[in-house]
Amino acid sequence: EKGGYEHFMLKEIYEQPRSIRDCLRGRIYPNEGRVQLGGLQEYAEKFKNIDRIIIIACGTSWHAGLVGEYLIEEYARIPVEVEYASEFRYRNPIITEKDIVIAISQSGETADTMAAIEMAKEKGATIFGVCNVVGASIPRITHAGAYTHAGPEIGVASTKAFTAQVTVLTLIAFYMAQQKGTVNHSKMVELLTELDLIPEKVQQALLADAIIQEIAAKFKDSRNCLFLGRGSGFPVALEGALKLKEISYIHAEGYPAAEMKHGPIALIDEEMPVVVIATKNSSYEKVISNIQEVKARKGIVLAIVTEGDQTVKAMADYIIEIPDASEAFLPLLATIPLQLLSYHIAVLRGCNVDQPRNLAKSVTVE
Ligand code: F6R
Repeated sequence: EKGGYEHFMLKEIYEQPRSIRDCLRGRIYPNEGRVQLGGLQEYAEKFKNIDRIIIIACGTSWHAGLVGEYLIEEYARIPVEVEYASEFRYRNPIITEKDIVIAISQSGETADTMAAIEMAKEKGATIFGVCNVVGASIPRITHAGAYTHAGPEIGVASTKAFTAQVTVLTLIAFYMAQQKGTVNHSKMVELLTELDLIPEKVQQALLADAIIQEIAAKFKDSRNCLFLGRGSGFPVALEGALKLKEISYIHAEGYPAAEMKHGPIALIDEEMPVVVIATKNSSYEKVISNIQEVKARKGIVLAIVTEGDQTVKAMADYIIEIPDASEAFLPLLATIPLQLLSYHIAVLRGCNVDQPRNLAKSVTVE
């Protein structure tokens, strides 16, 4: 059942080249620079005039939502707000018939997300679902949507469902950009050609597993861990921290790297591991100065870097390489080593990786 893997979580981490490929199948036509999302087709016209999109979700799905915000704003130029379903539903949020709400849920059963959808629906918004479990409750109450096609996820910690959610949100961003004309044809050809190669790059990122296992042995007795990232690397940092805390019970926090100096920097000493997303993209130089700030206080730096990077390598205590990619696709690659890191740390600590204490796969109570 676990296909030769010791845990479902590891199996699901390794399935990602396949699950992302399945998620893309029939939806992208790189040579034509075209994205096709059957479920959204009847709303294609609506994208031309919408004022904003609200994304609602919980937990890991909320992190995928933050990546979605980055991508939709960058490519489709539509303002996006990302909300915790549980907060959104208990406020008196301003929602109109012009709004599009994207609800993200692996299980399709999360109580708070369902209630938030019902509320937005009553106020006239159009609701799209991004769900994994086919025929679950959420896909049945939304107006339209796109399944993530990641296949059943058994491990309580979400892994392949997260990368599939990010993949669907990437497709939604590109689809909206296509309808609005905010990305020109040759750029779209370029983006989709690169997206088509992401499953292979995820496969390459998995090759760091042995190195990650060694690094995990160094970090396994830590009491705390900080994860830092900027831009689309910030949600990756949040997700890395959530994975670590939920399966290894090490206290971890994700922060935008620049926010460190506004508080968390006080925590840094020679016992504090700091995981930094330091790939070569628009915030590379800025992240380098954040690493220097950590090193000046004797923190232990583990950097996720672009293959071949020398600058960060010279500064960090440990590095994990991932293949080079445009910023748009960074979250899909940078997440992989963080999943493996928390997995190995949890195994070394003797934790029940697939069924961490106090957690359930679908949270049907509020
Ligand atoms: C974390 C995790 C949870 C879920 C959250 C939402 O690994 O699995 O944080 O992401 O409970 O669940 P769904 O996506 O089913 O609505």
